[in-house]
Amino acid sequence: MPQNPDTTAITTGRDGSHSLATPLHTSSVWASDGLDDTAARATATRSSAFYSRYANPTVTQFENAIAELEGAESAMAFASGMGAIASVVLAFCHSGSHIVAQNTLYGGTLSFLEGPCRRLGIDVTYVDANTAGAFAAAVQPGRTMLVLAETPSNPRLSISNLTELGAIKGPFTVVDSTMATPLAQRPLEHGVDLVLHSATKGIAGHNDAMLGVVAGEKDLIDALWAYGVLHGATASPYDALNGLRGIRTLPIRLRQQSTSALQIATALQDHPQVSCVMYPHLSSHPQHELAMKQMSCGGSLVAFEIAGGIDAVRRTFAALKIVRSATSFGGPETLLCHPQTSTHVGLPADMLAAMGVTDGLVRLSVGLEHSDDIIADVVAALSAR
Ligand SMILES: Cc1ncc(COP(=O)(O)O)c(C=O)c1O
Repeated sequence: MPQNPDTTAITTGRDGSHSLATPLHTSSVWASDGLDDTAARATATRSSAFYSRYANPTVTQFENAIAELEGAESAMAFASGMGAIASVVLAFCHSGSHIVAQNTLYGGTLSFLEGPCRRLGIDVTYVDANTAGAFAAAVQPGRTMLVLAETPSNPRLSISNLTELGAIKGPFTVVDSTMATPLAQRPLEHGVDLVLHSATKGIAGHNDAMLGVVAGEKDLIDALWAYGVLHGATASPYDALNGLRGIRTLPIRLRQQSTSALQIATALQDHPQVSCVMYPHLSSHPQHELAMKQMSCGGSLVAFEIAGGIDAVRRTFAALKIVRSATSFGGPETLLCHPQTSTHVGLPADMLAAMGVTDGLVRLSVGLEHSDDIIADVVAALSAR
């Protein structure tokens, strides 16, 4: 019988010592036994005990844990989710390359594709992930290096079909699975090449780490490492420690947050000030059937539209008592975010319109407070005049 992921979250990422807490290796550099030893360490792939940008034992335990949870051969951690995304793009693309990207993505990813990528001559075609076959149809054989998807997507929680993505051959397929965490879905099982996370979010889970991670086949991760070690956005052992500590409690946190999120989404559905609610496991979600098939739980995020536009949104934010106004997600505190003025600020109006980032759209990151209190706080704030 395969081990339950709840158990793997506890047993994984151990260094073989008797220490139950992850040992923190703070050294940036290790001494060697002379020139030949140094040369061997300097030229080995993912060399340990050489220089922390190449590898660090604490970071390695975190990477091993993510690889095991994702069912991957290998993983590499980065200084942030954006560090992971930028490194994947720059490791596998060159001037003249083409990327097929979902048109609903985290704002930072879109800004990276629209800014540095365009400047470096990397061309991007955006597709509607909910049109069947759209990713595959946009692939230009021989030129497309990456197909980049995010599911559930930021901020409207739309769901992309992992099996469809996994069937694409030629370019590497990459899924940003941040909102699902490694526990709610496993993109690699669907044939996707690389899965990545902003581990800043649910994985570390306490709003005290900046961390990214990419998992996949060993050869691909080694190639990513060969670029990443020069790019330099490698993870700090302090953040990796918090990432691994977060993994220990991720199953129970995610389960609680998903239960609360579904209750909150259900309660908000009938609220007169709410015009639309998006939650993957809510039966009214446009890709509900797909979400039920590929996600074991709905996750900690709920998106909804406040009727009355920006003025009503401002009044709601001002009236909140428990829920805090902040952009991140996956932590213990319930946070409300207005994507148009935060995660997606500065993007062109046509892109925002295509993504459904309207004046009234907000995204709730459901924390670990009692769901009755969260619902009462949000409902009271929505009614504030
Ligand atoms: C889906 C998604 N991917 C990537 C990122 C970037 O992660 P980080 O902030 O750790 O760089 C974010 C940040 O919000 C995100 O929401």
